[in-house]
Amino acid sequence: MTVHQDLRNPEAPIDVAPRAERATADRAAAAEWWRSAVIYQIYPRSFSDSSGDGIGDLPGITARLGELDQLGVDAIWLSPFMTSPQKDAGYDVTDYCDVDPIFGTLADFDALLARAHGLGIRVIVDLVPNHSSDQHEWFQQALTSAAGSAERARYIFRDGTGAQGEEPPNNWQSIFGGPAWTRITEPDGTPGQWYLHLFDSSQPDFDWSKEEVKQEFRRILRFWLDRGVDGFRVDVAHGLVKDQDFPDYTPDADGASMGGEGAPAPYFEQTEVHEIYRDWRLVLEEYTGDRALCGEAWVSSVEKAALWVRPDEMHQTFNFQYLETPWEAEQLRVVIDDSLSAFNSVGAPSTWVLSNHDVVRHATRLALTGENPQGTGIGPDFPGLPDRQTGLARARAATALMLALPGSAYIYQGEELGLDEVHDLPDDARQDPTWFRTAGERYGRDGCRVPLPWAAEAESFGFTSGGAPWLPQPDRWKSLARDVQLSDPDSTLNLYRQMLALRAEHDLGLGELRWLPGNQDAALMFANRDVVVLANTGTQPVPLPAQHEVLLSTAELHGVEVPADCTVWLRRHAG
Ligand code: NOJ
Repeated sequence: MTVHQDLRNPEAPIDVAPRAERATADRAAAAEWWRSAVIYQIYPRSFSDSSGDGIGDLPGITARLGELDQLGVDAIWLSPFMTSPQKDAGYDVTDYCDVDPIFGTLADFDALLARAHGLGIRVIVDLVPNHSSDQHEWFQQALTSAAGSAERARYIFRDGTGAQGEEPPNNWQSIFGGPAWTRITEPDGTPGQWYLHLFDSSQPDFDWSKEEVKQEFRRILRFWLDRGVDGFRVDVAHGLVKDQDFPDYTPDADGASMGGEGAPAPYFEQTEVHEIYRDWRLVLEEYTGDRALCGEAWVSSVEKAALWVRPDEMHQTFNFQYLETPWEAEQLRVVIDDSLSAFNSVGAPSTWVLSNHDVVRHATRLALTGENPQGTGIGPDFPGLPDRQTGLARARAATALMLALPGSAYIYQGEELGLDEVHDLPDDARQDPTWFRTAGERYGRDGCRVPLPWAAEAESFGFTSGGAPWLPQPDRWKSLARDVQLSDPDSTLNLYRQMLALRAEHDLGLGELRWLPGNQDAALMFANRDVVVLANTGTQPVPLPAQHEVLLSTAELHGVEVPADCTVWLRRHAG
């Protein structure tokens, strides 16, 4: 089955076989599927709305799974859809074993899972173990119980400092800005203890030194495993255990990020946190079907990231070093080499990623000309906004590089359409707690969470049958709507379909990377199995190697040169 586009005849339809006919089908069913899977992140509130309330939901996802099948993904990861007051878009959970009514019901989830499995698509759900919502039954009990009680012990309550306990227990700052401690009023009406929240004050941190907390999360894991999920993406996986001395800590300049450079914060990367995942691994191994854990651990090196995927811990951890690497050949070479060596040393795949719901979309980020620390976001006044053409060209080229690497890869909904960051959202539409906690100083992450455009001519581009989408979509997305792109052979959507089909056909996820002699200056060049990959991160064209057939190119090729910001996949002519 050939899937490459005939470059001499760009009008020819791209021949992409249905999933069942592709090698992917076997691989998706194979053992250790997570080593090579392409996993598509769905941000439920922005994917597709079936109920007409302007917020995406589970039936909306189920109805569109056929389109993801066509795209050629192996699995989906659903950001949280559990019961939540939605103070942090579902990362503030009140009931870990139920579906929030805005997203549907448990029956809707079962239907989604059955449909996905019917298509050979695996399903990973998001688990948020570092903190609950302040509306969680346990936290409400803690508030009405006495200091020192068993109810308080499930969270991190401490007396304040200062003569009257009026100062927080230490100087820790919330990742979203402002202090990481909030003082409560005791049941008798007096000013009381303080509780820790690494994120918003509506997200109190659990105390993971307590057996009751551990047991509760084993129960939650089993609840979803019993329902048939294929795994979990684990939120803030590096943060569950805190240094029990609670020392003061001042992050370095990168403190806005979720990990930061340099020495770990006393609330991240504590050695004991790994025991939790060793325990969870045993829970997953009680089940058949190769269930997997993927850690969201923002740590400062790939060597540190590899600690999360030692043989008795998680299966995957996001390679955020790769995500944070600029579109620059030498830095990419280094991060690719370091990643392969660090993850190989523990027998794990690298899990590549360029975009998610927390970062500036890579069609914008890779061409920004100004500093933009992770988590800060960009607004209308950002001085270094790129031109969209350059951003899109780089995004296409960077994704083609990523998807040719051995290992697993995550793609974030909308990147297959080449969506850019919506930097120009009106202030009164913004919903990220970062925006509120920093009094508008940091824009936060709303710009990458805007609902998807499905149909160019429909209201809300076909996202919702009802009123306004929960965040407004920019008019410029009309030309990026999925239906327009489907019929354009050069569209980003068709490029993704081509890449995923070729990646499966050549089994690149389980291949090995070999650097080739053309790998110099701004050109990255390597082979993975029988595919030769050349990425040009520079400003000048580089020569296309002779005697190669072009399988895929992210930009139009003129003659025998690969233009700037372009990646090609080639195959050497036999003989
Ligand atoms: C990481 C999640 O990806 C992010 O969206 C969330 O705000 C924080 N963890 C807190 O749960």
